Amino acid sequence: MVWQAKGNFDKVAIVDLGSQYTQLIARRIRELKVYSEIFNNTLTAEELKKMSPAGIILSGGPNSVYQYGSPEVDSGIFELGVPILGICYGMQLVGKVFGVEVTGAKHREFGKTELTVTDETSLLYHGLNPDLICWMSHGDITAVSPEGFVSTSHTLNTPVASFENRERKIYGVQFHPEVTHTPWGKDLLANFLYRVCGAEPKWKMADFIKRSVKDIGEKVGGEKVLCALSGGVDSLTTAAIVDRAIGEQLVCVFVDHGMMRLGEADEVEEAFNASFHSKLIRIDASERFLEKLAGVDEPERKRKIIGEEFIRVFEEEAAKLEGIKYLAQGTSYPDIIESSGIGHHAHVIKSHHNVGGLPEKMNLALIEPLRDLFKDEIRTLAVELGLPDSIAYRPPFPGPGLGIRIVGEVTSERIEILQEADAIIRQEIIAANLYDGRTRAFGVLPTVKTTGVTGDARAYGYPVVIRAVSSDDEMTADWTRVPYEVLDKIANRVLNEVRGVVRVVLDITSKPPGTIEWE
Ligand code: XMP
Repeated sequence: MVWQAKGNFDKVAIVDLGSQYTQLIARRIRELKVYSEIFNNTLTAEELKKMSPAGIILSGGPNSVYQYGSPEVDSGIFELGVPILGICYGMQLVGKVFGVEVTGAKHREFGKTELTVTDETSLLYHGLNPDLICWMSHGDITAVSPEGFVSTSHTLNTPVASFENRERKIYGVQFHPEVTHTPWGKDLLANFLYRVCGAEPKWKMADFIKRSVKDIGEKVGGEKVLCALSGGVDSLTTAAIVDRAIGEQLVCVFVDHGMMRLGEADEVEEAFNASFHSKLIRIDASERFLEKLAGVDEPERKRKIIGEEFIRVFEEEAAKLEGIKYLAQGTSYPDIIESSGIGHHAHVIKSHHNVGGLPEKMNLALIEPLRDLFKDEIRTLAVELGLPDSIAYRPPFPGPGLGIRIVGEVTSERIEILQEADAIIRQEIIAANLYDGRTRAFGVLPTVKTTGVTGDARAYGYPVVIRAVSSDDEMTADWTRVPYEVLDKIANRVLNEVRGVVRVVLDITSKPPGTIEWE
């Protein structure tokens, strides 16, 4: 076992014990500019020793430490003299190894919980307020500290919410410092990394690029790689990193389905030509998509048609190319969910969105350089790779594009109307400084005709809906309180500038009960 990355920076090993938050721990550590890698719990002390990590983190996990088959670690790791931090289940495992009983808590704790730090000399809490709010998610506890350990905090129902053996540098916390609901959790992790492990914040996104470029180069050798561009930041960033690794051995196929936002397809091509060495094949497939979508107004059917047609166009193009052995795909961490086994990741790729299913059919091996990254990290990476901000920070856009923002049958006239109205809405929201990274603003075109007056004549035209929401995780969203003056400006501009629109309305539905998209 060796680190994937080589370089002059400190490295931390995260041992995955099945937590849904393991990737989040890795992400926080990356944010703190220390390199980390996630390992399966089969990692041995001997292997770890050879890797000389600056620290080891044992993740949480859903099990109970006494449960049959619950994950363990090689107890030899506690003898390495390397600092260890056990989180939740990881702490209970430390307790078990050092001989205290882990019991079911009288009252389980889930959610935000008040924590009182009882030993301010603990390095973990250095510089922190002794009264804190932390995020708990556990049924079991270690009710006492093992011999040689001291308890450093408690909550109402957890008498030992953290413990430590300073001499051996072994720490345990029952709460989750990696989640944002523990607001100072990142400071605690920083204390562990910098003060306990003595790690230095030296790792940079550029080091991630270096490692990926090297990995891709070694994996691919002299072979050719194909990449399907959808116009989104994930596939473009994937292409950018593969391009940096193997240049002209990469061929990118950009399937333009004709339902992107105004000017976006050209922007993708320009960005590509400005910074890539590989070849871009842009296919204007809008006619094909429109033909398939003619007469279809059922949303799921539209999604399916767009997804399938995307794959078909891509396959046809790929069939014209010779000697391709690999497919580069922009799968990111949110696209992946943890399956039941520890360390095994199952792919759940939104069917409409990309080329899921292609590698099997086309007999291509996969390259997925973004699979450990979260969306905002991909944006940082995109900038680092030279893609323009307009692409890197582009608000998320669904794979089927305006196809699912036209409520009803998609026609070229409707696409044009919505592209123009949507561009105005976004321009004005940006001009009013209402974008904060959580905001999403766009237009929706219901395909009903309503009455208006244009000049002196009665006119029938479409309504355009202003949809603006704030969302952290896409699971919930609140409608954005756009000031009246901004709404007024949008309405005036849309009605004056976009032919075919006679009415502008505002959607004030949150999610739930609504969804962000109209279809
Ligand atoms: P909803 O509308 O379910 O959207 O609140 C949640 C998030 O998913 C995106 N979305 C899609 N993305 N293909 C995609 O790639 C789709 O068919 C699709 N439908 C919704 C939506 O934009 C939001 O970010």
